[in-house]
Amino acid sequence: MRTYTRLPLRLIKGKGCWVWDEQNTKYLDAVAGIATCTLGHSDKALELSLRRQLKTLQHISNLYHIKEQEDLAEWLVDKSCADSVFFCNSGAEANEAAIKLARKYGHKKRGIKKPIILSAKSSFHGRTLAAVSATGQPKYHKDFDPLVEGFKFFPYNDINFIENIITNLEKSQPSISAIIIEPLQGEGGVNPGNRNFFLKLRELCNKHEILLILDEVQTGVGRCGTWWGYEKVGIEPDVFTVAKGLGGGHPIGALLVKENADFLEPGDHASTFGGNPFACRAALTVVKEIERRKILENVNARSSQLVNGLIDLHKAFPNNIKETRGWGLIQGIVLREETKITSYDIVNEAIKQKLLIVAAGPKVIRMVPPLIIKKNEVNILLERLYSTLKEFI
Ligand SMILES: Cc1ncc(COP(=O)(O)O)c(C=O)c1O
Repeated sequence: MRTYTRLPLRLIKGKGCWVWDEQNTKYLDAVAGIATCTLGHSDKALELSLRRQLKTLQHISNLYHIKEQEDLAEWLVDKSCADSVFFCNSGAEANEAAIKLARKYGHKKRGIKKPIILSAKSSFHGRTLAAVSATGQPKYHKDFDPLVEGFKFFPYNDINFIENIITNLEKSQPSISAIIIEPLQGEGGVNPGNRNFFLKLRELCNKHEILLILDEVQTGVGRCGTWWGYEKVGIEPDVFTVAKGLGGGHPIGALLVKENADFLEPGDHASTFGGNPFACRAALTVVKEIERRKILENVNARSSQLVNGLIDLHKAFPNNIKETRGWGLIQGIVLREETKITSYDIVNEAIKQKLLIVAAGPKVIRMVPPLIIKKNEVNILLERLYSTLKEFI
């Protein structure tokens, strides 16, 4: 179907941070499957462990206990604030599960008949009907009404606005069951969360017994230089969702909850493929390799290098670049509103310079390379970005 506007490239091979097209042209990949190929392409450890897993057991069913799923859940619970995990196959599915959980929490814990979930403007939570209804960007809603009801939106990082909504809506009776929010808005323009905002948000949620759900689909699993994006804003959520980078390019998503939010019971939710041995083996290998190879240290070192390079680019192109921003290895270049150039123009030009980058809206260029990117590769990324931007002066 014609659901994608595709770029003029057919990629057939990858290794590390590099991909090749049919003509054998080599590109530096700062898209990495949109923040999924954590260990880069064709990682040896991933290849070996998945081969072994295919020979042992690929898929059974959640009718049975699954060893790889238990091991992955144990790792996730050990390395995060969560106490239990539900596995699914994508980010949208993980958020869909979080929304169901929030509804049930609203009914059972707070006695709300029609629970409301607050979500941020410019957010992105996925494309299933509930996830897209939770997404604060009208362009994704167009033609799909009636949307799932029960969502209200607030401006990102605006605590006064949220405080007012909560005061108004909770005045006479409980009505808000949850707030869903990204620690850094990815698709919405690589927009980092403000620490003070999140600290106050946590306080408000505690005070009113509102579940705080963090969508870590794009920010989780080391992308920000910490295991989880919530560490960057100094809080712990009640619930968080992950996907993208968890499987290193293989589909897997997860809903993680603290004990106080563990409201789903047998029969409430399920997935045929969720948490299958192959997907869990992929994720286990990814997280264990991040630990073994000290990849978070690399994320932070390469991030400093990239951030400094982006500051230089800003100085070199002050008329086109408004600012650069991000955490770890999710970095964005924000174009000035008044320039005619869009991020899509730049993505297309970058392909000519043998560099893959991705837009986050019409005015933000996003870089989300594999977390294993090397020092010389960051230099090449910056050189190619410079050559790309030079074409627009
Ligand atoms: C923050 C966030 N949530 C949810 C999603 C949806 O994930 P998926 O495409 O795996 O359904 C995305 C995808 O870009 C995302 O960035």
